[in-house]
Amino acid sequence: MTKIGVLISGSGSNLQSIIDAVKAGSIDGEIVLVISNDEKAYGLTRAAQFGIPTKVIKHKEYTQRQAFDQELLRVLQESSVELVVLAGFMRVLGASFLAAFPDRVINIHPAILPSFPGTHGQGQAFTYGVKLAGCTVHFVDEKVDHGPIIIQAAVPVLANDDEDCLAARILRCEHKIFPRALALYCAGKLRVENRKVFISGIDEALLEDQFLISCPALS
Ligand code: GRF
Repeated sequence: MTKIGVLISGSGSNLQSIIDAVKAGSIDGEIVLVISNDEKAYGLTRAAQFGIPTKVIKHKEYTQRQAFDQELLRVLQESSVELVVLAGFMRVLGASFLAAFPDRVINIHPAILPSFPGTHGQGQAFTYGVKLAGCTVHFVDEKVDHGPIIIQAAVPVLANDDEDCLAARILRCEHKIFPRALALYCAGKLRVENRKVFISGIDEALLEDQFLISCPALS
């Protein structure tokens, strides 16, 4: 059973989807620690409600980014964490942190990468006027929102959407693919080769002829 450490900064709805999947037995893992860089993050309450140990490590208390990273690392290693999950964690982790967890840090981003990396991926997609938006679960490497992609999902952008309504639709999708990706990781079904992620034991024939088209046919 994989020991999972989850890093958050906010509401923790993605954390909740992971907690639910662990409880349901679909992820062969245990969340041993939730860390937030913000003491007000509601995700801390969610974790505590499920008896998961929590810790606040405030980035503002560290003048050097590396010192913050080292403290995160120390605390995660103290809890014997094997997989680090970034669930709405709004800080960038440096090279020395990542070197301690090679291919063992997974992030969710609210856009279909490589489009719209960085903060407010949903807002960027909305402003650009894309017809399909979505989200990406990926391994973390040294560049922001760049590492090998595990799962992506698309949602339509509708004419009456505003940015919030689109972000909510994307978030519902995040809650589906994040636990799914972690389940695959914990089941040992992911292999990374030349920055491509291969998933073993899934029936890709089910995907072969699927399309998501942003406009229905004229009737
Ligand atoms: C999500 O959209 C995530 O992709 C982004 O921040 C949001 C966090 O939501 N990075 P939550 O804290 O999981 O509710």
